Amino acid sequence: MNILLIGSGGREHAIALKLAESPRCRTLYVAPGNAGTAAFARNVDLRIDDFEAIGSFVLRNSVRLVVVGPEAPLVGGITDFFAANSQYRDVLVLGPCRDAARLEGSKDFAKAFMARHSIPTAEYRTFTRETLSEGQDYLATLSAPYVLKADGLAAGKGVLILDDLADAQRALVEMLQDAKFGEASSRVVIEQYLQGIELSCFVLTDGTHYKILPAAKDYKRVGDGDTGLNTGGMGAVSPVPFADREFMNKVEQRIVLPTLRGLRAEKMRYCGFLFVGLMNCGGDPYVVEYNVRMGDPETEVVFPRIAEDVVELFDATCRGRLTNRQLQVDPRTAACVMAVADGYPGSYAKGAVISGLDTPLEHSLVIHAGTATDSAGRIVTAGGRVLCVTSLASTLPEALLKSYQALDGIQWDGMRYRHDIGQDLLAYQIGQQ
Ligand code: AMP
Ligand code: GLY
Repeated sequence: MNILLIGSGGREHAIALKLAESPRCRTLYVAPGNAGTAAFARNVDLRIDDFEAIGSFVLRNSVRLVVVGPEAPLVGGITDFFAANSQYRDVLVLGPCRDAARLEGSKDFAKAFMARHSIPTAEYRTFTRETLSEGQDYLATLSAPYVLKADGLAAGKGVLILDDLADAQRALVEMLQDAKFGEASSRVVIEQYLQGIELSCFVLTDGTHYKILPAAKDYKRVGDGDTGLNTGGMGAVSPVPFADREFMNKVEQRIVLPTLRGLRAEKMRYCGFLFVGLMNCGGDPYVVEYNVRMGDPETEVVFPRIAEDVVELFDATCRGRLTNRQLQVDPRTAACVMAVADGYPGSYAKGAVISGLDTPLEHSLVIHAGTATDSAGRIVTAGGRVLCVTSLASTLPEALLKSYQALDGIQWDGMRYRHDIGQDLLAYQIGQQ
């Protein structure tokens, strides 16, 4: 079948690599894609929020399966757009409907959903401009650190964690009254701080059946030792040593099953990926957030470990015929290190020529994120997160070593990366021995 993948990041390059491996994939289109996907798929210059243009491309090119990478088109209703129009009745779309995408699109909606279905998460309350002073009072009843979340999508920047009550109260004013995150912070969720280790769990579901994908841990802060600003993610590791069978069983029973039951009970069609951000609090999982897509850079370590034909899996998911049989997974450890442009997550330069991409690598993959091909045919930087190297090995230290060695051979002006990806997990493993 012809397949269209929507998105342009490392997540999409990693998904595209797996789609292209399948004997069932005829032509793979990526809209808009990056220089990495251009090497083996056809990049198409479409805007990811222009559903009409995407729809006519799909018809013109006999696309059978549309795989949606990022959240914005899902929250914007791309799945509903295809479902609402009979000319697309043969098109399969992997991604939940707009109603269900509110699990990511609105923190208040997600928290209320979890409360309705008794899914473990931090205690919370939601405030608006009208209830600002109640919000200030509520903050005063909590103890530090204070967690404030803009309700809507804010490009991963809408969560503030503050140690000082006065700072938290000031931030609440900025969010509600001064629209610090625009419309996204017209409502603010204030919640209890969860103490623990974070991890990302992924489920592929047709709404009824599901498969739990490998868990991963990502590294959000820009600097070594978890310092500096929050980013989209500076690296990832899968599997996660502390996500053992017992813990994952709790995740399935307490979170995955009640979430899918809740979606069905509330008549929200869910077909696609569910990403549950979790805090492991003394061995018990609590939901930090839901996302309605795969994680980035988690996909760059999760997808290389999937040992099945993903076109078969996605096709079955879209048709409501996924089985509950356990997913076949590569037992090796995958580690990825993301290299970013100097200045990221703030402002950064684009257009720097990347060298060293031609060196053949064993057991490592260079996965592109913000890259493009310039008019001279050179691969240049085109985003904050530029590319990552993912390596597979039988142990975590080996996988990390290979990724760092491969990154050594790649250069551009202003290249930066963290040097401590996975070190906390190594320390954990040593502690367990
Ligand atoms: P979110 O966008 O909701 O995932 O929040 C961004 C990040 O803030 C999370 O990945 C956590 O690292 C942190 N965070 C969010 N909520 C909490 C919480 N209740 N307690 C502790 N950390 C949190
Ligand atoms: N790496 C976290 C995310 O994709 O939201």
